[in-house]
Amino acid sequence: MLAFEIADINNAHLIYQWANDPIARENSYNKEPIKYSDHLVWFKEKIKSGSSKFYIFSNEEGQKIGFVRLDFNNVHKNAIISIVVDINHRGKGYAKHMLETASDEYLKSNIGAAITAYIFKNNVQSYKSFIHAGFVFNSEKIINKVMSCILIKK
Ligand SMILES: CC(C)(COP(=O)(O)OP(=O)(O)OC[C@H]1O[C@@H](n2cnc3c(N)ncnc32)[C@H](O)[C@@H]1OP(=O)(O)O)[C@@H](O)C(=O)NCCC(=O)NCCS
Repeated sequence: MLAFEIADINNAHLIYQWANDPIARENSYNKEPIKYSDHLVWFKEKIKSGSSKFYIFSNEEGQKIGFVRLDFNNVHKNAIISIVVDINHRGKGYAKHMLETASDEYLKSNIGAAITAYIFKNNVQSYKSFIHAGFVFNSEKIINKVMSCILIKK
């Protein structure tokens, strides 16, 4: 069983390390390495405004294994989801459980909302993890020159 906590400002550096991981950057639309000072401004604003929620997950041994982020569209309560699993904990099947837990928690308290994931078509591990977590293929689209899959969970 994985446990989760909701990140606050004290988790800024941990989230930074995960988000700035080279493979995480490679699989993002904005590939540039992130400067910590920029991250801090961005993260503080996200937490303060409540426009995003970061779920930090721990495994059975209490090790922190990564995060799921939900960005909200306050008008429709819809959200966009993303995930990074710590490089030392990839390949263990954690992502599907993290995605399922975070999305179910959000949808339970936001009846009628939808969560959308944008995944690079070549990111097979990510695609499979989302499908196993209950997301459904919606469409394919080139976004920022990258062929992407759009998956939705309601
Ligand atoms: C993508 C990511 C979240 C996946 O997390 P994970 O917990 O390591 O996922 P796993 O590698 O254990 O497994 C995911 C699935 O992909 C499969 N898989 C793994 N490597 C594969 C490969 N090379 N080809 C095909 N399938 C593969 C696994 O078998 C598993 O499928 P299954 O559940 O049907 O067995 C993680 O690699 C990560 O954080 N990457 C960097 C950030 C990122 O890409 N985020 C997603 C942006 S949309």
